[in-house]
Amino acid sequence: MKNTKVCSEMDWKEIDISGQPPAEELSRQYFYIAKCRHWVKDFEGKNGRLPTACVVNYGCQMNARDSEKLAGILESAGFLLTEEENSDFVIFNTCTVRDNANQRVYGRLGVLNGYKRRNPAMKIALCGCMMQEPSAVEKIRKSYGFVDLIFGTHNIYKFAELLSLCLESDRLVLDVWKDTDKIVEDLPVERKYPFKSGINIMFGCNNFCSYCIVPYVRGRERSRKPEDILREIEGLAAEGVVEVMLLGQNVNSYGKNLEEPISFAELLRRVEKIQGIKRIRFMTSHPKDLSDELIQVMKESSKICRHLHLPLQSGSTRILQAMNRRYTKEQYLELAGKIRREIPDMAITTDIIVGFPGETPEDVEDTIDVIRRVGFDNAFTFIYSPRTGTPAASMTPVPEKQVRECFDRVLQTVQETAKERVSAYQGQVMEALAEEINEHDASLLTGRLSNNTLVHFPGDPSLVGSLVKVSLEECRGFYYLGHMV
Ligand code: 5AD
Ligand code: SF4
Repeated sequence: MKNTKVCSEMDWKEIDISGQPPAEELSRQYFYIAKCRHWVKDFEGKNGRLPTACVVNYGCQMNARDSEKLAGILESAGFLLTEEENSDFVIFNTCTVRDNANQRVYGRLGVLNGYKRRNPAMKIALCGCMMQEPSAVEKIRKSYGFVDLIFGTHNIYKFAELLSLCLESDRLVLDVWKDTDKIVEDLPVERKYPFKSGINIMFGCNNFCSYCIVPYVRGRERSRKPEDILREIEGLAAEGVVEVMLLGQNVNSYGKNLEEPISFAELLRRVEKIQGIKRIRFMTSHPKDLSDELIQVMKESSKICRHLHLPLQSGSTRILQAMNRRYTKEQYLELAGKIRREIPDMAITTDIIVGFPGETPEDVEDTIDVIRRVGFDNAFTFIYSPRTGTPAASMTPVPEKQVRECFDRVLQTVQETAKERVSAYQGQVMEALAEEINEHDASLLTGRLSNNTLVHFPGDPSLVGSLVKVSLEECRGFYYLGHMV
């Protein structure tokens, strides 16, 4: 990984690690980074090489951003970052939104155990949403005793301190908090891409959809101050970032609880003014909070991308009510219609859950009806997964056979509408941000259109990070093949 905004300019010798750690949080964490650097030097002296570290991310964009923060601290501490899990320090940033995310972690832990047998000095750490679940931590302590460090989502800003403790200790370091109201700014970050970046604008969620574990593991909604967000984006622009993705579980309620309230639409207006930023994305919008002001700002903006992720979850008003989503089928249709009328080229994508307790094939017909009428550009379709502690977990499950059949029907409808929407651009010339060299063919670059569709085209690797004009020649379902013009 490159593009580290590590503290390379910092004079680490100025931090006296022989004394007590400072009380002020940011200085305290830098104190612990300095302590880790000392440990790394020691390791290098003994082993003739730097210790390696690997950050493995599971789950959503918010987690991906958190993982960049973990990587930034490891890099600042002097570790050599690698993608190889068989390293001296490995950390899994876990997700728990559906049970299969948990199962994947247990599976990988088995593999890590094998590595640790061959390298007993290896340190294994777990953090993120799954660690906020007492039952998961209990299971890990019982059956995966080789894990060295466990912490949760609320104290991730203390990673340097916990890392330092873990490096110095032979016993499990465990620190999981129930909640926090704290937001710590300005810790080091290691960005995955030099030209685009996620920015947290808020943390947590207050919606309590009845199937969702997020409000329990990420805590109550907290918005960052607009001036902190804008300062961070200005800094990113100065480093060459052209595209930003504003991140929150429910960005439409951004700023409501700040001392000086501000709307999400107003925040976007201010981000738009930042020089050097050419594209603005955001994620995720809750339909119940999407304002006319926001539609207006998107319409007038030349930087906000033509892509809106608007989770539907279900098209049945009865199920939506049981999900505690606080909108009806008709309200969703009306909102999507309004967006399409005001901004016809806006791609709308969604999330759909199939198999929520009590769902009948007729309810699924309603979901399919909404998919057809809105014509989603893409949709993530999930099978309902009961999460302990959520209201829906104690409701009667839908028979598995019915879930499978309904899931296949939903998926097929999504594919049909998506193909129709995406292929409508065939033959047009559009602007793409060249993001990387194509995984399968190094003569091609992979670019992303404003509407989030990918296009593969011949191009020089030096163009990665630039906005280029591409003709969309051949639609292959969800993506295009094309040429630069
Ligand atoms: N089961 C299945 N899907 C879920 N999601 C959230 N919780 C669950 C669950 N318990 C889906 C929703 C959400 C997306 C991030 O994950 O569709 O929008
Ligand atoms: Fe979960 Fe609903 Fe909050 Fe999204 S809005 S994180 S689905 S509770």
